[in-house]
Amino acid sequence: MDVVVGSDRESLGRLAASLVLDRLSADPGLVLGVATGSSLMTTYRALADARRDGRDFSRVRCVALDEYVGLPQSDPRSYHAFVRREIAGPLGVPAENLLVPDGNTPDQSRAGAAFEDALRDVGGVGVQLLGIGRNGHLGFNEPGSSFGSRTRPVRLSATTRADNARFFPQPGDVPTHALTQGLATILEASTIVLVASGSHKAAAVAAAVEGPVTEACPASVLQRHPRTTVIVDQDAAGNLTR
Ligand code: GLP
Repeated sequence: MDVVVGSDRESLGRLAASLVLDRLSADPGLVLGVATGSSLMTTYRALADARRDGRDFSRVRCVALDEYVGLPQSDPRSYHAFVRREIAGPLGVPAENLLVPDGNTPDQSRAGAAFEDALRDVGGVGVQLLGIGRNGHLGFNEPGSSFGSRTRPVRLSATTRADNARFFPQPGDVPTHALTQGLATILEASTIVLVASGSHKAAAVAAAVEGPVTEACPASVLQRHPRTTVIVDQDAAGNLTR
């Protein structure tokens, strides 16, 4: 893995965006894997700035990592809504170019398989942007998720529900389940860029980058990926020793 330590969240975002823009120059129809959450917001803003400077995202396809089970797509906290509002709108990616797991069908295992088929049909992910959970999760692959996992329904851990409670009126409103790309799915992306900031991510970043490759820390599987860049600020890098 390449590890880059930046000074602040804006610089992390600019750096991650530059990796995406490099690939976009070579491939205007880039399949961009996107993550929800706060960590990538400065990256999406930097990409929107690039669009204002003339970069064209109209042929880009955006593929999301995950979706809550049972939240309608129209709910502003759904990841469908996040991708439309924070990414597709500002970048000018057409709605028909978005692929987000469907958390609203009764048969979630079948929805996972359908998502895998759709992902294969678009030719796989070119650049995958990732955040990391405080517990080392990727997407919603919680500790203990198999490295061989594919897109499937999962139960969210107490830590994850507590961390995401800030987006909901009451902690009890956070959905209990999600449909997430599996770790094996994520690992098929050609290039992976993980962004993390803040001291609350320091333990997870150190476990992912320098710890043993173990299902106890899902993000440690990235050590097996040939082209992963981890972009962190000083605080998130605080527990790194190498
Ligand atoms: C969420 C998402 C992840 C995201 C992570 C970190 O639950 N499912 O894809 O990377 O948690 O979120 P944040 O960047 O807000 O800390």
